[in-house]
Amino acid sequence: MLRRLHHDQPESFAFTAANEKWADAQITKYPQGRQASAVIPLLWRAQEQEGWLSRPAIEAVADKLDMAYIRVLEVATFYFMFQLKPVGSVAHIQICGTTSCMICGAEDLVAVCKDKIASKSHELSSDGKFSWEEVECLGACSNAPMAQIGKDYYEDLTATGLADLIDGLANGQVPTPGPQNGRYAAEPLSGLTSLKDHDSGKTQYNASAQLAVDLSDTVKRIDGSEVPILTPWLNKSKPAKKPTTKKAPAKSKQTTKTAASPKAAPKTASGGKKPRTMKAPRKSGADDLKLIKGVGPKMEKLCNDLGFYHFDQISKWSADEVAWVDQNLEGFRGRVSRDNWVDQAKILASGGETEFSVRTKSK
Ligand code: FES
Repeated sequence: MLRRLHHDQPESFAFTAANEKWADAQITKYPQGRQASAVIPLLWRAQEQEGWLSRPAIEAVADKLDMAYIRVLEVATFYFMFQLKPVGSVAHIQICGTTSCMICGAEDLVAVCKDKIASKSHELSSDGKFSWEEVECLGACSNAPMAQIGKDYYEDLTATGLADLIDGLANGQVPTPGPQNGRYAAEPLSGLTSLKDHDSGKTQYNASAQLAVDLSDTVKRIDGSEVPILTPWLNKSKPAKKPTTKKAPAKSKQTTKTAASPKAAPKTASGGKKPRTMKAPRKSGADDLKLIKGVGPKMEKLCNDLGFYHFDQISKWSADEVAWVDQNLEGFRGRVSRDNWVDQAKILASGGETEFSVRTKSK
């Protein structure tokens, strides 16, 4: 397929202030002189902001990375994930047309797109809200046929199901991603045949769909304000020096005592400053930390295990303390700053509500 710049280009491009900050942070991941390595993340961010890559956007990224325009243009035109034409203002729908999906009905989905959006791929619908394309396998073959809409997957689709999804999006809704036929994840259609008892910590939707619901940015343009700038690689603590002398007896005694403690604290990583913790929630009971966007049942338990039970505890964390917690959420590192728990907790601790807490309570 010939991939070239769109004939109608905007005058200019600029990252939002938050996205600019994000881009600057990404560049620090790479050694001095190797900033060009950040070209794909920066192009992707520009696309997340605008929906597609214009010539000014490509040149702005090149300027930022001190690269020749042609080098960045080569990258943008090589990878099909970069859209070189304007996409629908509401959603760009990517229908998987590879083997499993084709066998299971991808052609019917393409027909819906042709009927409801535009007869040719990469063309805008008459109202400018939608565009579509057929893509290669998106790796969700066991839930074929499927489509990627915005950032998320809609699986086990039917023609009528996709038509309803498009209508919903057109009306301002964002249907829940994941399987659309009642399946939880990719288990057999007839139900589980093994591991039937493994549902502890199960979220309402499967992990991918749950995260999509929690983040609720499926078809949203990313202006940077929704994702805090994360640079955990900048404050990585140095590895502890090996002791040069034998352990003093008193110290080993203390170690033994800690190990024998009935409720051993979870292992923690160093770096940042450990916030004040509590051994147990107050008499009034622990707060429902799941009202913080980004905290599910597993994360809540992890917080409790670390000694955090209340919104007002979280609301007082300093940047150093956030860094410590970010590093010690085993399996969920970086979530505190990414989801800006502190600001959310401040509102909840003062008796207020966030958009997410209202939505969660109403479910
Ligand atoms: S064939 Fe469609 S997701 Fe793999």
